[in-house]
Amino acid sequence: MSSGTARPVKFSLPRKVKIIEVGPRDGLQNESLLLSSEDKFNYISLLVAAGLKNIEVTSFVRPDRVPQMADAAYLLAKLQSAFGNSINLPVLIPNAKGMQAAIASKVSEVAIFTATSESFNRHNINASIDESFTRFIPITQLAKKHRCKVRGYISTVFGCPYEGKTKISTLKKVIKKLFTLGAYEISLGDTIGVATPMEVNKLLNELKLNFDLAKFAMHFHDSRGQALANVFVSLQHGISKFDSSSGGLGGCPYAPGAPGNLATEDLVFMLESSKINTGVDLNKLAVASRFILNKLGKATTSKCLATINAKK
Ligand code: HMG
Ligand code: MG
Repeated sequence: MSSGTARPVKFSLPRKVKIIEVGPRDGLQNESLLLSSEDKFNYISLLVAAGLKNIEVTSFVRPDRVPQMADAAYLLAKLQSAFGNSINLPVLIPNAKGMQAAIASKVSEVAIFTATSESFNRHNINASIDESFTRFIPITQLAKKHRCKVRGYISTVFGCPYEGKTKISTLKKVIKKLFTLGAYEISLGDTIGVATPMEVNKLLNELKLNFDLAKFAMHFHDSRGQALANVFVSLQHGISKFDSSSGGLGGCPYAPGAPGNLATEDLVFMLESSKINTGVDLNKLAVASRFILNKLGKATTSKCLATINAKK
């Protein structure tokens, strides 16, 4: 019997969500089987056909460190000639050299990346947190000159494979510096997938004391199956931008124990079922994921994609 005090629980959720598809960059950077530029182009074209409008397509990093991204300039040229300005095609940039290459490739948005952890940054980009910001200065100067938008990533927001838990004070300092440099949006990365819904709630409650949460995106790796629950908590805080990877591909070569990103299929299914518009056609997205997983000889980690595949 009800006590009579039970009230229905109401969720206040955004009506529309921007998905930043990171499969071609975060999804593929960790794969040792080198794909041809043509396969990557065809994969990205299928993602576009599925309705994705923001696709992080590659990175201008050291090719000996991340060989899968070595064809960045060639791939971008092919994509730009196919899609013009109709699709936002951001690229990941670590330093001035990468930015010069990106500008030569006429990109209109770059993503710079740092972390809350000194050890992770040292492994990932061979720089301390402070050094990473020194490297960002020429990037943002070039960005201003060429009217290129700058997005910021912060890794290890909830935990680091080398240093453990992250201090909120460190995170706030890094956020402030990135906004001061001119990042229009910051993506908060749960690089090794250790966040849980209660922790996400606690973190966002803290951040909203100092920052406008509308300027954040969330980037959950799904190592422990918590990513979708973490998205739902973020939605309740008004966050409406999420990074995800088709088929659940993903991982950072310098973050041991960081398998796939949140699968775009799982994200789209939950959002569309909650009447939140994503603009993505799930069945067409499944075609893109099947294509790339087949090229890689891998099975999907996405439960939603596995279910769609089983019905075929
Ligand atoms: P470094 O060794 O410190 O660079 O690398 P350096 O300035 O000392 O230069 C050494 C050599 O690298 C030189 O060549 C440079 O020209 C070359 P040499 O003279 O010896 O022949 N070099 C470059 N070549 C091509 N492109 C460049 C570039 N820069 C220098 N941009 C660097 C520093 C950051 C470049 C390197 O450590 C690197 O490439 N690291 C890879 C980082 C990476 O891609 N990590 C994965 C992405 S981050 C991620 O996945 C997390 C995220 O998803 C969010 C989350 O999940 O948390 C975003
Ligand atoms: Mg990532």
